[in-house]
Amino acid sequence: MTDLNEKVAIVTGASKGVGAAIARRFVESGARVIAAARSRDKLEALHREYPDQILAVPCDITDPDQVQDLINHTVREFDRMDILVNNAGIGRFAPVQDLSVEDWEQMIQVNLKGTFLACKFAIPHLIKSKGHILNISSVAGSVTFPGGGGYCASKFGMMALSDVLTQELKKQEVQVNTLSPGSIQTDFSANPKDYALTAEQVAETAWMMVTAPKGVIYSNITMRPQVPPEYQ
Ligand SMILES: NC(=O)c1ccc[n+]([C@@H]2O[C@H](COP(=O)([O-])OP(=O)(O)OC[C@H]3O[C@@H](n4cnc5c(N)ncnc54)[C@H](OP(=O)(O)O)[C@@H]3O)[C@@H](O)[C@H]2O)c1
Repeated sequence: MTDLNEKVAIVTGASKGVGAAIARRFVESGARVIAAARSRDKLEALHREYPDQILAVPCDITDPDQVQDLINHTVREFDRMDILVNNAGIGRFAPVQDLSVEDWEQMIQVNLKGTFLACKFAIPHLIKSKGHILNISSVAGSVTFPGGGGYCASKFGMMALSDVLTQELKKQEVQVNTLSPGSIQTDFSANPKDYALTAEQVAETAWMMVTAPKGVIYSNITMRPQVPPEYQ
């Protein structure tokens, strides 16, 4: 498939799980992908799978200098940038009174500040290419639950940021999409249910969103696993 031929995409949190699946799916569709995360070894393994199409760029998404370097590196290497996938994310779950200050801060830093930083530095390049921002949110970005105080706050914040960006970038024809999955079978959860979504199913939807037909914007998509009746 060549729908993303010539396109250059940054995928954050690409060392494993959903991010690695999105990187592979985009490459299969013809894109060149800059895979960013902190785990250099895992990123390099992904690069070895697709040496000509995946570039591994270690980056802590919470550090403004590293994020600026990630964007600069991309544009220096490929002379353009078309898609930013803000996928890096962490979840720590506990009632508010028991949630540590460190866990709260880490979730806000990675899930919300990381998304802000990547958008901030990428937007001038995405305006040039009339590109896409795809934010990987969560069902927890619109539905709360006990124990989700920090995680839901970070993902609700991501949804608000996405809405603002949609309005700010409309005239420049930069599309802003949010994909909100339910449970996925990744390392994110200690015991993911066997009926949970696969990272590949989420990646397929991400690909569909950034390859929307001309004139169509898939603004927000929520996808959930179909829960078998015996679990309901
Ligand atoms: N799994 C689920 O049930 C589920 C459901 C809904 C939404 N989501 C969302 O989907 C996204 C992907 O999650 P996943 O399930 O694929 O989780 P995962 O397997 O735990 O992967 C998380 C990714 O985020 C990266 N990351 C964490 N901290 C980072 C930092 N400071 N800087 C850069 N990268 C960082 C990790 O890489 P390094 O550790 O190498 O840095 C890793 O690549 C997240 O935004 C999550 O909130 C997940």
